[in-house]
Amino acid sequence: MSKKVIYPGSFDPITLGHLDIIQRASTIFDEVIVLVSKNINKNYMFSFKERLEFVELATKDLKNVVVCSDNGLLVDFMFKNNITTILKGIRNIKDFEYEYEMSLINQNLDPIIDTVFLLSNPIYTMVSSTNVRELIKYKKDLINFVPEKVNFRIKELIY
Ligand code: PNS
Repeated sequence: MSKKVIYPGSFDPITLGHLDIIQRASTIFDEVIVLVSKNINKNYMFSFKERLEFVELATKDLKNVVVCSDNGLLVDFMFKNNITTILKGIRNIKDFEYEYEMSLINQNLDPIIDTVFLLSNPIYTMVSSTNVRELIKYKKDLINFVPEKVNFRIKELIY
């Protein structure tokens, strides 16, 4: 049986840190489903369509990576699509505290669900979508923070 994993996130926008996790997961799992989702506690800089486009641009060359989008509860999407494993990247203790709690909630909602964590590459510890959005406000180049094609597209849209 082929093993699928789902990597959900807001991706506002996708960063090099996210892409590194996706690339590494694509060598561990048979299929990686990147889910562009909505965190109802967040106000986004980029629209749902733009965030989805960025993820598609960044992952286009990865053969076993599929991009999906959904606005509902993660566990419902997983149930509908027969996926039981969630992937999260962990940069630091703060990420772990948050993601640990999320993993408990998701497992409580559907006990079949497991969350696996990949430690972020240390070169991306300070790379976050939050920092990228801050840099965009000052029209700084994002080449060290987001995938090249995404950097280009953001410049087209905003700079
Ligand atoms: O990149 P983010 O903002 O940390 O991603 C969070 C996201 C979108 C993955 C998370 O908020 C999510 O899964 N939202 C969908 C709704 C849901 O399933 N919430 C968890 C149960 S409280």
